[in-house]
Amino acid sequence: METLLVPMICKVDKVIQETPDIRTYRLKFRDEGMMEKFTFLPGQFVEFSLLGSGECTFCIASSGTRKGYFDCSIKKAGVVTADIHTSIEEGDEVGIRGPFGNWFPLEDIKGKNLLFVGGGIGLAPLRSLIQYCIDNRSDYKDFTILYGARTSADLCYKDEIKEWQDNKSLKVVLTIDKPEDTWTTHVGVVPKILEEIVKPVIENTKVITCGPPIMIKYTIQSLLKLGFADKDIITTLEMKMQCGLGKCGRCNIGSTYVCKDGPVFTNEQLKNLPDEF
Ligand code: FES
Repeated sequence: METLLVPMICKVDKVIQETPDIRTYRLKFRDEGMMEKFTFLPGQFVEFSLLGSGECTFCIASSGTRKGYFDCSIKKAGVVTADIHTSIEEGDEVGIRGPFGNWFPLEDIKGKNLLFVGGGIGLAPLRSLIQYCIDNRSDYKDFTILYGARTSADLCYKDEIKEWQDNKSLKVVLTIDKPEDTWTTHVGVVPKILEEIVKPVIENTKVITCGPPIMIKYTIQSLLKLGFADKDIITTLEMKMQCGLGKCGRCNIGSTYVCKDGPVFTNEQLKNLPDEF
């Protein structure tokens, strides 16, 4: 497909300031026919290019079940992302290649209880799958979302989280690291809230987690302690990817390339990789 090698022009339809350092860019291909042909599954990513600044990979933060656009949520964390934040506004154009990478195991999670565990910007790839599963809600049993951030201001997708909270078929648990005057629910890091508050059912449950590497590490430890099997813990790694095509050698863990072999892995697969994240 042409979008894998040559950047296709997308128009920025909307910019949402999610947190002080995260913005969501809602993108539409300039060529409407291309928008229809651009199909992707939750977990995949795109290469986003800004003329004069370079390219960066970002997961697609929305689901293909929501037609006519796709979202990328971008945290200001380096030169290219800072340039994107300062120079890209609604109506501007950017280059997009993709979609790349594998996707969450949609067949494996069908018919199961779902537990999403996210931290900070790590909710972005989970949001793609959450939207997909909400749009196919009857395919799943219990549906729990545990999401945490450093502070309440650092929680992404605040408006959408309200919709999730209003949806009686979902259970949403939010937490922040330290108490705040206006915060009335849970306080504590995600793995602690997982063990002490959520206390998930183990049987017939698939866990999908993403967040800062340290959060993923401790969340997996908590899940194993609770009794989950490695094959039922699924995560997505977005490490140091650049080319997205297995060519630049930036993303490898041992002989595994996150961009080509992932970014979605089960803990069963991760256990066989060198401990680098
Ligand atoms: S991002 Fe270049 S090899 Fe994976």
